[in-house]
Amino acid sequence: MTEYDDLSDLYDFEYDHDYDLPFWIALAEREGGPVVEWGAGTGRLAVPLADSGHEVTAVEVSESMVEGGKKKGNAVEWTRGDMRHASLGRDHGMAICAFNSFLCLLSVDDALAFLRNARRHLVPGGLLGIEVSAFSPDELSDPPGGPTLRHDFTRQRPDGAKLERFSISRYDPASQLLHMRLFYELYRGSGILENKRAHDLTIRVVGRGELELMLRLAGFEVEAVYGGVEGEPFDAGSDHLIVLARPV
Ligand SMILES: C[S@@+](CC[C@H](N)C(=O)[O-])C[C@H]1O[C@@H](n2cnc3c(N)ncnc32)[C@H](O)[C@@H]1O
Repeated sequence: MTEYDDLSDLYDFEYDHDYDLPFWIALAEREGGPVVEWGAGTGRLAVPLADSGHEVTAVEVSESMVEGGKKKGNAVEWTRGDMRHASLGRDHGMAICAFNSFLCLLSVDDALAFLRNARRHLVPGGLLGIEVSAFSPDELSDPPGGPTLRHDFTRQRPDGAKLERFSISRYDPASQLLHMRLFYELYRGSGILENKRAHDLTIRVVGRGELELMLRLAGFEVEAVYGGVEGEPFDAGSDHLIVLARPV
């Protein structure tokens, strides 16, 4: 079992945004394919990228996330595997590791193993793009009295179904691990509570300097750093950290 196996049935309801898609499509058009997405989830990005005419391989460790992705059609080549060491047998013009998949790597060794593997799967001059959340110090410090339960969001589907998410988080600065306990409530259109569950998820928070340094150690040269998908400069107020790098 992987952390996302038990979340796969809710994933597309929970994350239906696509504001980042034009950014990755524009890069894929500029760079040329084939494209590999590492930690592709249920294909939120991989499927529309393939539908826009790119040859896309999606690598994902959770079997049920892969199953969810495969239900969306045949345009994507799915590989169930671990991005730290999956071997795809071909090189790619562009690689994407987006929406915090990189933060699922819980140690420096795991992150470096992935970056080295990603490098092995790029053609000379190919591009790796990594996008992660940029956390503010406030988001990583406990309020006085300790961690508290927060209401994260409400999602509403056209059929009236509603998903509520609450969470309680604890950040350990020594390990850079952010431990989250997520609470989901799924309501039918009629308002009846259909499902209620708790789920533990841990990510490792990574800042700009560490990411750049790890990329260099893994044999990349950093080409650009952005604070968002409009290509904004990265600064103290950025919610996102995007780094583009090429093998040296
Ligand atoms: C937050 S989701 C992001 C999914 C997708 N990139 C998106 O934009 O919707 C993180 C995904 O990375 C996957 N993942 C975590 N560790 C992985 C690993 N070592 N190898 C491959 N996939 C991994 C998880 O199973 C999960 O589906």
